[in-house]
Amino acid sequence: MALKLSVIGTGYLGATHAACMASLGFEVIGFDTEGSKIDLLAKGKVPFYEPELEDLLTAQIKSGRLTFTKDIKDLADADVHFICVGTPQVKGGNAADLTYVNSALESIAKVVKAGGLVVGKSTVPVGTATRLRNRLLELNPKADLAWNPEFLREGFAVEDTLHPNRLVVGVVNDQAEKVLKEVYAANLSENTPWVRADLPTAELVKVAANSFLATKISFINAMAEICEAAGGDVTVLAKAIGYDPRIGSRFLQAGIGFGGGCLPKDIRAFMARAEELGAKQAVEFLKEIDAINLRARQRIIELVRKDLSDDLQGKKVAILGAAFKPDSDDVRDSPALDIAAQIQAAGAVVTVHDPKAIANAQKRFPALKFAEDIDNTLKDAEIVLHLTEWKIYREIDPIKAKSLVKSAIMIDGRNALDRTSWLSAGWKFRALGRANNE
Ligand code: UGA
Repeated sequence: MALKLSVIGTGYLGATHAACMASLGFEVIGFDTEGSKIDLLAKGKVPFYEPELEDLLTAQIKSGRLTFTKDIKDLADADVHFICVGTPQVKGGNAADLTYVNSALESIAKVVKAGGLVVGKSTVPVGTATRLRNRLLELNPKADLAWNPEFLREGFAVEDTLHPNRLVVGVVNDQAEKVLKEVYAANLSENTPWVRADLPTAELVKVAANSFLATKISFINAMAEICEAAGGDVTVLAKAIGYDPRIGSRFLQAGIGFGGGCLPKDIRAFMARAEELGAKQAVEFLKEIDAINLRARQRIIELVRKDLSDDLQGKKVAILGAAFKPDSDDVRDSPALDIAAQIQAAGAVVTVHDPKAIANAQKRFPALKFAEDIDNTLKDAEIVLHLTEWKIYREIDPIKAKSLVKSAIMIDGRNALDRTSWLSAGWKFRALGRANNE
């Protein structure tokens, strides 16, 4: 008989995992302590923007395979329970806040049946899985716990869940691996690489991967600083080094750097955990990765100041993009929104446009002005900043845009616009890591 699955925590990761597993034919029940989230999901509504997810969710609810509950006891007859709750950065520190993971384990331990498997997917500091497993066995000696980190990207969550580039399972017993192979049979039939690991290694794979990605981005942003100092062009440099397959061209897009709910907090939590383990020095370089990343935001603001004669007071600034990356409405630690807020705090009159993230951005920075329409955002602007590389911004006609603004200065914070066409339309064009020609 097919396994029954439960998902605890129906945020970004959990809602996607639940809908995708149901689409593979499993009976899935989703649980969350936030009742309002469950109410929405049960109606087929996704509380955040993620391409493809709402259609998939609706279809799976209709099929009867996917249900949601506010009562943890309803999870009792599931065979496998996925813990997908958040692990945000603690307030006032760098470590991960494990409150939600700990309480998810406590709640599920009470209902998991004999032979049931609890599977952690949340990003946690190394050592957490072993601790949680010990606690589970204390409360429920016939259950087991495995760790199965998730590598999905926002904006590609469905695709990444249904067709991951690898599956990593941290297990103590063969039986747990066998159950997980049953869960992921569809992926295995597509020859998705399967990596069996012990619990600490599985946890570390996730933070190591995100640290590597963050390092790649900060590396190219450091090269951007050097290019600026030496008169080089970081976009050409990135292209040239990227042809070496050992380096690879992805994640070498220089600009205002990484944000979101994962990369920044994961590298910080990794440093905090390494220190606890007495291995602080091994990941001390991540401090520099973080610093380079945050410096990119200041460097963009310096470009703005230079063009506005170091006086932002009362200047009209148009900002294209608030989300931390395109195809997402997530503004957690968004470089774009941080820059918008800093420029506003320096006295400028800022208008921010984003196709999806305005509602979330407004909650975070209610004092900022937002516009639903690109033309209105550009109107009378004295400088324009392109900070999240949505496709619609690449489709803006620079000639028409020039007729709307007061002063045609474009600062491309993502190195994603076609510089030639903006220059030939008469704009001054600035970008990080490139010669800032008129
Ligand atoms: C990241 C990882 O890519 C996923 O593999 C992982 O599962 C996820 O975190 C997680 O831990 O849950 P995500 O946060 O969705 O995924 O975003 P990314 O696509 O990694 O982008 C992160 C940030 O880096 C964005 O702000 C993006 O604009 C920036 N970035 C990315 C650059 O500045 N340059 C690049 O070349 C690439």
